[in-house]
Amino acid sequence: MNIVLLGPPGAGKGTQGDRLVERCGIPKYATGDILREAVRAGTPLGLEARKFMDAGELVADEVVLGLIRDVLAAQGDREGFMLDGFPRTVAQAEGLQALLSDNGLELDAIIYFDVAEEELIRRLAGRRVCAGCGAVYNVHFDPPANEAVCDKCEGQLQIRDDDREETVRNRLRVYRESTAPLLDWYESSATTLHKLAAAGDVDAIQADLARVLDCS
Ligand code: AP5
Repeated sequence: MNIVLLGPPGAGKGTQGDRLVERCGIPKYATGDILREAVRAGTPLGLEARKFMDAGELVADEVVLGLIRDVLAAQGDREGFMLDGFPRTVAQAEGLQALLSDNGLELDAIIYFDVAEEELIRRLAGRRVCAGCGAVYNVHFDPPANEAVCDKCEGQLQIRDDDREETVRNRLRVYRESTAPLLDWYESSATTLHKLAAAGDVDAIQADLARVLDCS
């Protein structure tokens, strides 16, 4: 099954996508994670991307399309994938469609994570990420035992650079202007768009998602 996880910053794409990887064994490719890894490694891509990410702006369409081209090529004959945070513009969606069709593939489902903006802001303000193992917590909704320390590996918990208040405001504006139009775009395409109510209990949302995708 080839799936796109679509939704605003903080909607739970990463949280639910990671659980789905464990549950259904479908590999997940998150452009945000790939770009953050490039920033950490200080590669030319990372140095260029950082300017946009720190400002809450989108990295250029051709750059992220190139990343997706590479991950899909590396996946070889393995069946099924999940894209998290890509596409994010109509141009990226068109590029993805062309890329898939060149490889005889198509999307089976788009999952849209629907969460009110007030809650998104609270989630992003409360997110903490382990510098050691990458585990994600939330001081409001899923707090670690000690606010500064990872329960799993005792690594240091950090605030993501782009979760600062001003950057969050810009990320939400960019989402509304550049990514939200994808809902109409996909609604008028042949791929099924599922709107998932994504507020509330994480396990209940995962159960809804698994049901929609018919993956137990
Ligand atoms: P990216 O990393 O993709 O960020 P994003 O889309 O803004 O998504 P987030 O990671 O913030 O949110 P999420 O939906 O995954 O939520 P999560 O599960 O973590 O992109 C970062 C940047 O990279 C972009 O701004 C851009 O610059 C660049 N970029 C990436 N892709 C690009 C592209 N395609 N084109 C151009 N540029 C690109 O959850 C958030 C928090 O909420 C966590 O603390 C979690 O514990 C908590 N939480 C989750 N679910 C619940 C729940 N049900 N109830 C309460 N809390 C919850």
